[in-house]
Amino acid sequence: MKILIVDNYKTMSEVASDIIIKDINRKPRINICFATGKTPIGMYKNIVKAYRKNKVNFSKVVGFDLDEFYPISRGDKKSYFNYMHKNLFNKVNIKKENINLLNGEAEDWKKECLNYERKIRKNPIDLQILGVGVNGHIGFNEPGSSMKSKTRLVKLTHLKGNGLTLGVSNIMQAKKLILLASGKKKSKAIHGLVKGKISSNCPVSFLRKHKNLIVIVDKNAARLIR
Ligand code: GLP
Repeated sequence: MKILIVDNYKTMSEVASDIIIKDINRKPRINICFATGKTPIGMYKNIVKAYRKNKVNFSKVVGFDLDEFYPISRGDKKSYFNYMHKNLFNKVNIKKENINLLNGEAEDWKKECLNYERKIRKNPIDLQILGVGVNGHIGFNEPGSSMKSKTRLVKLTHLKGNGLTLGVSNIMQAKKLILLASGKKKSKAIHGLVKGKISSNCPVSFLRKHKNLIVIVDKNAARLIR
């Protein structure tokens, strides 16, 4: 695990977008699994700026995402479908047919999860972007999720309702992981990732076993690991 401790949210976003842009330039036909939440918004803004300056090209990029509410319509403002289109996909030249998102409108969630895993098996994720919840959740893998968990429907404890999420085992299969965290409220989860016991009580701790993980955190999120 490589840990980059930076001064603030702005630098965290810059370091993350630089890595992603370099990775796309190195491998234009890259499979990236994107994350939602407040944390990566600055990073997406930087990527869009770089795209507008011709510094990165999404014409061959294949995009996935980590999770989605269920059930939810794509038009719903709260959907991650909406989030990903608003913050990134509508603003760059990614091809529609290269966007693969978990479908919150699927009638049969089991089928949807199996199909999604099949797609990922065919297009292994090169780069997985991650945020983390204050309780150590990744995607919608809440405390209690096992290392072997797969793509599935989960009951959300920190929010109302259900969600579809890649499992911890799917996330662990990505070739490279980038995890972002900013602010004091994430410091416990970051401690769990770097120094805590590896356990399903804190799902992010499983990532310590990954061979190619880059953690980019600001000083506030890093306060318990320094
Ligand atoms: C949600 C998302 C996660 C995200 C987390 C943290 O639960 N499903 O993928 O990492 O929230 O969000 P934020 O970055 O807003 O703190």
